[in-house]
Amino acid sequence: MNDTTLQNFQTQQNQSLASGDAVRGQYSAATPDKGQPVTRNESVEENLSVRVRDLSLWYGEHQALDDISIDVFANTVTALIGPSGCGKSTFLRCLNRMNDLISSVRIKGLVEMDGRDVNARGMDEVALRRRVGMVFQKPNPFPKSIYENVAYAPRMHDMVSRKADQDELVERALRDAGLWNEVKDKLHEPGTSLSGGQQQRLCIARAIAVRPDVILMDEPTSALDPISTATIEDLMDKLKQDFTIVTVTHNMQQAARVADYTAFFHLGEMIEYNATKQMFANPHTKKAEDYITGRYG
Ligand SMILES: Nc1ncnc2c1ncn2[C@@H]1O[C@H](COP(=O)(O)OP(=O)(O)O)[C@@H](O)[C@H]1O
Ligand SMILES: [Mg+2]
Repeated sequence: MNDTTLQNFQTQQNQSLASGDAVRGQYSAATPDKGQPVTRNESVEENLSVRVRDLSLWYGEHQALDDISIDVFANTVTALIGPSGCGKSTFLRCLNRMNDLISSVRIKGLVEMDGRDVNARGMDEVALRRRVGMVFQKPNPFPKSIYENVAYAPRMHDMVSRKADQDELVERALRDAGLWNEVKDKLHEPGTSLSGGQQQRLCIARAIAVRPDVILMDEPTSALDPISTATIEDLMDKLKQDFTIVTVTHNMQQAARVADYTAFFHLGEMIEYNATKQMFANPHTKKAEDYITGRYG
């Protein structure tokens, strides 16, 4: 990032910080206790990454999210679970304002990231999406080389100017995504020439190349075979040292394996949110228990 870009970025961040503070007063500061209290993992001192309060969303007349409040902790994996259509993807898209792209959407409530209101007028969406990366269900590499898939966004954000820096950044992202050894000799081949599991790791490398704070993953392994799935699960466990991960999964074993925290959604409401171990061992609500034990969904 050059000096001017950095300055602009910081000015924008400070402006949105100011408006975030103004908005904050309207919302409760306390940890939400709707459904059941959120139980923090008591053995770990966690920092807050994303604070959501009273978040509702409508597609036209249809309400898809109803009064969601949740704290997402930094450097943890949080899993969103619940039956299809309960609002998991919609919620995820609220965290990087991707719902803005849908014209019928109306949003009420607060989404705050590191103390800044994501929906504040001063918030630069490009800067926001740099801080909040996204990985989708179907691996979607750009129709470009493996190298370009990773280098493109950092260049767009002026994070690198020299070719050598760019090479280094690409290598680091591919290493962090556990893909470097498999692709280092064919960086200029198309991203789409890789296997499905490799393509998904390429998409993860692309997401982490700009060093975001948060990575959103929407069913990142549901199109993959079991071995690629296990590789991505291991990767999530490593990546949380540097990033905060919010992931959607339909696979209860996956939630149990990778997630520190789990939020159970049902018909647009967040029914229960807790440390995963606690939620799975001792769900507080009948609905969560039924879903986790496979009685419906
Ligand atoms: N772009 C859209 N336009 C209108 N309705 C939508 C749109 N996306 C999702 N919905 C509706 O919002 C609800 C939540 O959907 P979604 O967030 O995709 O659920 P999930 O990811 O949990 O399966 C569903 O009723 C769905 O039909
Ligand atoms: Mg979905």
